[in-house]
Amino acid sequence: MSVTVRVPAKVNVQLAVGAARPDGFHDLANVFLAVGLHDEVTATPSAGGLRITCEGPDAAQVPLDRTNLAARAALALAERYGRPADVHLHIAKDIPVAGGMAGGSADGAAALLACDALWGTRAPRAELLDICAELGSDVPFSLVGGAALGTGRGERLTPLEVGGTFHWVFAMAHRGLSTPAVFGEFDRLGEGTDIPEPVASQDLLDALAKGDPDALAAAVSNDLQPAALSLFPDLAGTLAAGRAAGALAALVSGSGPTTAFLVRDAEAADRVAGALRTSGTCRSARTAPGPVPGATVLTDRPA
Ligand code: C5P
Repeated sequence: MSVTVRVPAKVNVQLAVGAARPDGFHDLANVFLAVGLHDEVTATPSAGGLRITCEGPDAAQVPLDRTNLAARAALALAERYGRPADVHLHIAKDIPVAGGMAGGSADGAAALLACDALWGTRAPRAELLDICAELGSDVPFSLVGGAALGTGRGERLTPLEVGGTFHWVFAMAHRGLSTPAVFGEFDRLGEGTDIPEPVASQDLLDALAKGDPDALAAAVSNDLQPAALSLFPDLAGTLAAGRAAGALAALVSGSGPTTAFLVRDAEAADRVAGALRTSGTCRSARTAPGPVPGATVLTDRPA
């Protein structure tokens, strides 16, 4: 028996960041949109305890030890249900690593759902979401997908209505960025300034509800973008190349360094992706629609 779960990447269409809290985290108003770049995690029983393998273009950068969120998810579920975490988790990785698209979080949510199905633990949805929140701020959203507003450190989710499909292009950078480093740079850049409470933009929520790409393009924002650009100045060239190719909006995805370009339709997405690929400002460019569903069990089959 093995179970495969497919899980999407995310882009933050709004990422409003408050001042650092005493616990080091930041309160957020984080508007997540799940987009059609996916990892797949397959869970298979293993006699020799927990084992992780990974395939894909970025596989060499994925840790295969217990720091991997997929491993931590399996261990957390096993501990709650008092069972051994005897499982082989294979990650087929298509989401960029250290890219600001929640690839590690996605694998955590997928592994949790896969182990729950494989082991027949049948944890209630609320408990799965609880475990996700313990694993990381973005992990609950990887489980639910679609579109949602994340508050607190991003883990408290309110689902959002979306009135259509938005078309995106993502430009992958030549190297990754560390999320804590980007938040640290946000703190450094904001030193001595008054940082307002993060709030979701009503214009942005209305644009999502209408499915209106022009209105969404006018409303997207990312408070981490100046920090990401400060640590990775070349990203400005990628953003400019996408804008010059006709993107309606260009922004850093989450903590970066992947850059996200909102375009009018699938045809424009192909055009902008082609222009980015030949611009020399990124490693690769991919098109993806959003919203898409969250972590989903694909196969539940005899090994
Ligand atoms: O929650 P997660 O483990 O994904 O967070 C990774 C790092 O990002 C945290 O250690 C922290 O430095 C930063 N972070 C933050 N505020 C948030 C979410 C993440 O400062 N709301």
